[in-house]
Amino acid sequence: MQADLVIVANRLPVDRVTLPDGTLGWRRSPGGLVTALEPVLRANDGVWIGWPGGTESDLEPFADDGLRLLPLPMSEEEIRGHYEGFSNATLWPLYHDVVAKPEFHREWWDEYRHVNRRFAEAAAEVAAPGATVWVQDYQLQLVPQQLRELRPDLRIGFYLHIPFPPTELFQQLPWRRQILEGLLGADLVGFQLPGAAQNFIRLVRQRVGHKTHRDTVDLPDGRRVRAAAFPISIDFEGFEKLAHDPGVNHRAAEIREQLGNPRKIFLGVDRLDYTKGIFARLRAYGELVRDAHLDVDDAIFVQVAVPSRERVEQYRMLRDDIDRLVGRLNGDLGKIGRPAISYLHSSYPREEMAALYRAADIMVITPYRDGMNLVAKEYVACRYSDDGALVLSEFAGAADELRQAWLVNPYDLNGMKAALLEAYKADGRELARRMRAMRRTVSANDVRHWADTFLADLAGRNGLSQPD
Ligand code: G6P
Repeated sequence: MQADLVIVANRLPVDRVTLPDGTLGWRRSPGGLVTALEPVLRANDGVWIGWPGGTESDLEPFADDGLRLLPLPMSEEEIRGHYEGFSNATLWPLYHDVVAKPEFHREWWDEYRHVNRRFAEAAAEVAAPGATVWVQDYQLQLVPQQLRELRPDLRIGFYLHIPFPPTELFQQLPWRRQILEGLLGADLVGFQLPGAAQNFIRLVRQRVGHKTHRDTVDLPDGRRVRAAAFPISIDFEGFEKLAHDPGVNHRAAEIREQLGNPRKIFLGVDRLDYTKGIFARLRAYGELVRDAHLDVDDAIFVQVAVPSRERVEQYRMLRDDIDRLVGRLNGDLGKIGRPAISYLHSSYPREEMAALYRAADIMVITPYRDGMNLVAKEYVACRYSDDGALVLSEFAGAADELRQAWLVNPYDLNGMKAALLEAYKADGRELARRMRAMRRTVSANDVRHWADTFLADLAGRNGLSQPD
């Protein structure tokens, strides 16, 4: 298998599922990344390398609806050390402003390096001469350098989907220099926001001692690395189309009905992650009900929490905390058939999410830190009738673009309560003014635009063909 474009990501864009006949098969996961990359992958004989989840080890390369996929298995030990350990209990909290305490373990680091090398070797094997390899996210930061050592002929891009921390925090990492050198193996390092790119450049200057000039690093061997922001987005058209679907709108009406036709529905949708600020948001809402600013006969908060990283300690603790809080709030504030919060610990298909977005009057997104937050953009894409309010944390990358949201500091409980009430009381004209502007922004900067700009910047140097 040879490819002119190779995507290397910790996960494949498909999930392992049990088919109706009892055998194991694949289901395309609905991520925006695969939607954006599909056309360019097809145009360039592309391959996607990723972990299929679990420990199955005898999976052959295969095609899913014309996309060539190369599963990279992980052993139980690799999952513990690389994925649950170094990626999600060291890097994840460190890069999200130390919202939880990062743990530093030398065995995890060894496993991370080892798994990164396996990904680099797989990419080196399938990449055609002079091919472009695009490495994704924090789980694979050593791959660019490891791959360059194996295949100096390749054009290598890296994109970080999560925040890149301020220098003061990054310095805590015992392996800070190795991570920076790993990333410098790429020709182009992409971040969500300009501040993250600047943090990276500053760290490279201070910690690795390379010469930097604005957004570029000059390496001793003459190579030049560029670091810049490419804010990621969603398939706007796809979501808007789904939102217009009669089935989806019928389901939205059904959801309202099943919730007892409240006047207003608040909605939260997050992976169950401590960076998302779910606990504080529900507390703020609970206080509004307790103090009679809101009434359970009138309003309800629907919180969807998608199960995530369930073997990592911090995630387990968070789940228990939220279970307890929801139980207490409903016990204290609810009436028969009228809970304050409708809590769902589950994941749903795209159609159901679109129906929820159509049903919700106020979307509440309050992370302490978030690379972008695509849920905010999905909600906006689904509100084609220019209504619906968005309450959004200043600390989500999306806040840079969605300036017309009710922006909140999730650490400020009273501020959050005030914003929730304002959004609840806003009139149609106010809602339309804000939503119209946000819709313009997201539709003009969809995920296709994101992928095209990144790849064009990278291709400026190797002539990767773009799809028509
Ligand atoms: C974030 C990360 C992704 C990751 C996703 C789901 O969005 O940036 O790289 O794939 O969370 O997390 P998981 O651990 O299930 O892959």
